[in-house]
Amino acid sequence: RKSAPLPEDIRARKGGVPLVSLTAYTTPMAQAMDAHCDVVLVGDSVGMVLHGLPSTLGVTLEMMILHGRAVKRGLSKAMMVVDMPFGSYEESPQQAFRNAARVMAETGAAAVKLEGGVTMQETIRFLVQRGIPVMGHVGLTPQSINTLGGYKVQGRGAAADALIADARAVSEAGAFAVVLEKVPAALADRVTADLPIPTIGIGASAGCDGQILVVDDMLGAFTAFKPKFVKRYAALGHQAEAAIEEYAAEVRAREFPGEEHLFAEEAPEKKT
Ligand code: KIV
Ligand code: NA
Repeated sequence: RKSAPLPEDIRARKGGVPLVSLTAYTTPMAQAMDAHCDVVLVGDSVGMVLHGLPSTLGVTLEMMILHGRAVKRGLSKAMMVVDMPFGSYEESPQQAFRNAARVMAETGAAAVKLEGGVTMQETIRFLVQRGIPVMGHVGLTPQSINTLGGYKVQGRGAAADALIADARAVSEAGAFAVVLEKVPAALADRVTADLPIPTIGIGASAGCDGQILVVDDMLGAFTAFKPKFVKRYAALGHQAEAAIEEYAAEVRAREFPGEEHLFAEEAPEKKT
């Protein structure tokens, strides 16, 4: 693939080869995933992963725009989606449009993502009808942690019908894809079969139309906690600490810098 897919290309991947997605917050990490991911999400998880916030609630529009601009510079093949942060879209469709338009214009994102199902249906429709592609996000929606009462599995038992209604509401409003977070696998499969748009799972099911993870989680770079749905493909946090420990010891022992890192008084003669 030479250029980035559009939201409509992602929509058309329903039922096909699973969509590959990760979060990114910086240019170099975006460069590392550009050739391998269909969709790169600048998630509001940036607040917890890079800024040490206790939840995603303290993330601002300015933070999302700053990280969105950084990620965009690292991408040429993957499509970029930017999360709308808590407080930037819930008040009204008009507020959502005003802020989503800023995100699109200032970051070069192809789409925005926002949390919520039935409650956000009108807002999603408002944005899509006015030219802003939207990715939905239902199930565990971390911006609602204070009303959900914890990072619990969503849609178990009698709550399944409400989850299905949320997913349908997002799809019917015109979203091109929807993230399903932390729901029972059988329910994720039901929703995937039910919806005409791709489902992108995180703690959902291998039967979803795609998967997403927080990149620092899957690299073992963010280790404050590890949700069950995270698989660690590397242990970058441990490697970083070991490297820093070695550097500190070498500095204290005057072993670093070595000869090869230093400059002589005279510049070396240039070869002609
Ligand atoms: O912010 C984020 O990282 C997300 C994904 C986990 C879906 O919303
Ligand atoms: Na998010």
